Amino acid sequence: MSLLIKNGTIVTATDKYEADIFAKGETITAIGTNLEAPADATVIDAAGKYVFPGFIDPHVHIYLPFMGTYAKDTYDSASRAALVGGTTSLIEMVCPGRDEDPVEAYEMWKSKAEGLSACDFTFHMGVTKFDESTPEKLKKIVDDGIASFKVFLAYKGALGVDDEELYKTLKLAKELGVIVTAHCENEVLVSQLQEQLLAEGKTGPEWHEPSRPVQVEAEGVHHLMTFAKLTGAHVYVVHTSCEEAVRAANEAQLNGVNAWIETVIPYLVLDDTAAQRPYFEGAKYVMSPPIRERKHQAFLWDAIRNRTVSTLATDHAPFDFEGQKEMGRDDFTKIPNGIPSVEHRVDLFYTHGVDTGRIDLNTFVDAASTQAAKLFGLFPRKGTIALGSDADLVVYNPEYRGSIAHAAQQMATDYSAFEDWKVAGRSEVVTVRGKVMVQDGQFVGELGHGQFLKRKPTHF
Ligand code: URP
Ligand code: ZN
Ligand code: ZN
Repeated sequence: MSLLIKNGTIVTATDKYEADIFAKGETITAIGTNLEAPADATVIDAAGKYVFPGFIDPHVHIYLPFMGTYAKDTYDSASRAALVGGTTSLIEMVCPGRDEDPVEAYEMWKSKAEGLSACDFTFHMGVTKFDESTPEKLKKIVDDGIASFKVFLAYKGALGVDDEELYKTLKLAKELGVIVTAHCENEVLVSQLQEQLLAEGKTGPEWHEPSRPVQVEAEGVHHLMTFAKLTGAHVYVVHTSCEEAVRAANEAQLNGVNAWIETVIPYLVLDDTAAQRPYFEGAKYVMSPPIRERKHQAFLWDAIRNRTVSTLATDHAPFDFEGQKEMGRDDFTKIPNGIPSVEHRVDLFYTHGVDTGRIDLNTFVDAASTQAAKLFGLFPRKGTIALGSDADLVVYNPEYRGSIAHAAQQMATDYSAFEDWKVAGRSEVVTVRGKVMVQDGQFVGELGHGQFLKRKPTHF
């Protein structure tokens, strides 16, 4: 099997140049001009198009028992959605219940992807409880190729850990060289504010944001940073939604904490008026932390441009409107939290970032691919275009003009949060380890082609 991509403009986190790329088998074996290919090679003409490294989404949920229901996607729908959207590798969160055995949960999550996923995948191991048996079990999972943990400082009584558990998880992570990703919100403040709002008869989705204001998120970040400082653990704040939370992480970075910041596409393109839409439409836009006032968008774009925010993920968490979001019709605290977005992250980021001039092409690649590879032990196999890297390539057409439609999506949900939104650009050809998975923007690959990506801890 060999692949030649000719005449494209190659863009990595640092470079932009015209060249051909040749892959023999699964990896890139030559980059140069006027490369020749064997007669049986697949040849793609990328003239007038960009060639990007495969994009990486470091924060997705596919199998997710949550808030009394299950997320809608499987690896069939989610990996096809990822690929048509230019994402060739994703990192899913393993989220065991507090009464579940972590090793069994990890094996179960993994079994849902293996043999089915069309794109490559790995996991952040959720630590939702910490007792005397936890270290040995987590070490076993790390030995299997997992190099990152996930903790929730929210979702009281469900996925959230208490302070003792947080401290012990971070200490263990430091010892193992594992980075800890964290959902940062003060769960006590959330539950108190929810109670208060409901008692005042404020039950609609528009009250979700006031129940989790920016201070709640900033306090969560500050809390995590205090623990990271005292344990020396390396931490990564997921789905940062607002200026206050970014500033809390920055402050800690200046105080010597090894911390990185993620934001997600909904926060860059939506504002709090989405959850205020009438007839319960707003429920489609309920996620945590909530979508904020418009002024935070500009701050987050600036933080991406100056590279304060390292990564742009999705927090893809797909729930139907009918039957799932509707569970919270009379009580916003019962609306399953999450927005389906793995399919549209790259196009929305390109359209609202590069096409508008907010960010340049190198920043686009760095935030949507390279930084995730570097932070999570996948670089330089993933996240760049270089000799020896996996031939995960995206031929991107910046001249394409189209719009997002639920009817055309791969994701399994019954709605799109971005219905009729215009996009300026599209992933036309997408390859995973040398194999063409998307052609003319359509999925043409095979389910089961995706591989589990074994990683080694790097955060000592
Ligand atoms: O609203 C969200 N973010 N849903 C998914 C679970 C999580 O907190 O990441
Ligand atoms: Zn979260
Ligand atoms: Zn999440």
